[in-house]
Amino acid sequence: MALSLDRLGLYDPKDPLKDRLTDLGPRHFWQYFPPIIQNNYGRWIYHDVLEPGILVHVSETGDKVYTVRCGAARFMTVQHVREICDIADQYCEGYVRFTTRNNIEFLVDSLDKLEALKKDLANRKFVSGSYKFPIGGTGAGISNIVHTQGYIHCHTPATDASSMVKAVSDELFKYFQSMTLPAKVRVSMACCLNMCGAVHCSDIALLGNHRKPPIVDHKVIDKVCEIPLAIAACPVGAISPDKTSEGYKTVKIKKERCMFCGNCYTMCQALPLSDKEGDGVTILAGGKISNRVSMPKFSKVVVPWLPNNFPRFPEVVEAVVKILEAYTAGANKYERLGDWAERIGWEKFFEKTGLEFTDHLIDDYRLAYDTWRTSTQFKYTTAAWGTSGIAGGIE
Ligand code: HEM
Ligand code: HEM
Ligand code: SF4
Ligand code: SF4
Repeated sequence: MALSLDRLGLYDPKDPLKDRLTDLGPRHFWQYFPPIIQNNYGRWIYHDVLEPGILVHVSETGDKVYTVRCGAARFMTVQHVREICDIADQYCEGYVRFTTRNNIEFLVDSLDKLEALKKDLANRKFVSGSYKFPIGGTGAGISNIVHTQGYIHCHTPATDASSMVKAVSDELFKYFQSMTLPAKVRVSMACCLNMCGAVHCSDIALLGNHRKPPIVDHKVIDKVCEIPLAIAACPVGAISPDKTSEGYKTVKIKKERCMFCGNCYTMCQALPLSDKEGDGVTILAGGKISNRVSMPKFSKVVVPWLPNNFPRFPEVVEAVVKILEAYTAGANKYERLGDWAERIGWEKFFEKTGLEFTDHLIDDYRLAYDTWRTSTQFKYTTAAWGTSGIAGGIE
């Protein structure tokens, strides 16, 4: 499909609505389907994962399509996209697709083509040594990390996305290229608690978090913000209208009420809150979105805060590894991380991962009551014995 070169140069800034095209919507997906996918659409009978990163789908017509899934950094240059296109031209008649976790999939219709394609992909590296197209991301392993903009483009982040994802992915690379876990582990990342993406529903989630209240720029706030919107943005009612002694219309923030969500800054640019020492990373665990065996679950906070230790986030990487290793050692086949934690009990989750349980983890927001334990059923853990000892009880 050629670009609409005939339309270039038609934009006239003096008459912006002239020749304006609008509401065309996306291209219909059908025109980008490889012929083998078009011919077998809705007729697939089964699929197999031949090895990590390689799938085969078999149709009732007898056709087979082999898929090679490769990791990608999501943020990519046009130069890289052109290289993807070159590969697709060489092996896949010009067809290629991206997955919902931003992996790249190349589809071929024969084993010969598959072998040649695999070999080519495995040999492509950036000058610095990283694989350009690492094959993997299927089955009970760890696929790509769904992530956000970070310091590359957004104005509300509390941490960076691409660098953290690269640091964590380097550590988890062996799981991208293998399928040895009890079930798939979805890792996702968001740089503020707007949670663009999937952190609230992933097995392991990394989340940017502030720890200081916003600063109020009294002199400009009334000029640049709709003050009632800023007041209404606060989930805990910490913001109220105010007037300074100089007569500026402004807001005041009850600091002991604020929990640093940053929502008011999203509404009002005169309330910035990012802070080098305050900002950092919260880790959540145990979410899922499929309905397999158990219902979908939200992920739960298990590490309240870790420092933004750029560029490799060693503390974050270490905590992720702790969670993964405890899960791998303890979970049954097919058990997602959240299923495992709920089966053994969260008190055991903390014992087995070695993560510290602190008061930050106890819900105190509106519907919090239901998250506490209204039962005598629990297991004694090392931490529980410790607390008992401190309180003068049995050790
Ligand atoms: C027959 C229909 C469907 C097929 C064949 C299908 C297939 C897939 C596949 C292969 C993936 C994994 C992609 C990857 O790992 O990169 C995926 C992921 C996903 N699909 Fe579907 N899907 C279907 C229907 C749906 C529907 C109806 C929804 C939502 C209502 C949905 C939501 C998702 C989501 C949210 C993910 C990401 C999962 C994750 O990251 O854990 N899918 N789907
Ligand atoms: C309390 C508020 C929220 C609730 C109850 C909620 C609920 C859910 C549920 C149940 C799913 C799974 C859907 C499925 O399985 O098909 C989901 C997925 C998703 N949510 Fe939310 N959500 C909330 C807030 C947000 C926010 C604030 C964002 C982003 C700004 C967001 C973005 C997404 C995305 C992108 C997915 C798909 C994940 C994937 O593809 O893997 N959600 N949400
Ligand atoms: S998660 Fe927050 S900081 Fe990150 S891209 Fe989304 S809105 Fe911006
Ligand atoms: S950061 Fe969040 S909690 Fe704090 S004042 Fe703003 S909206 Fe309210």
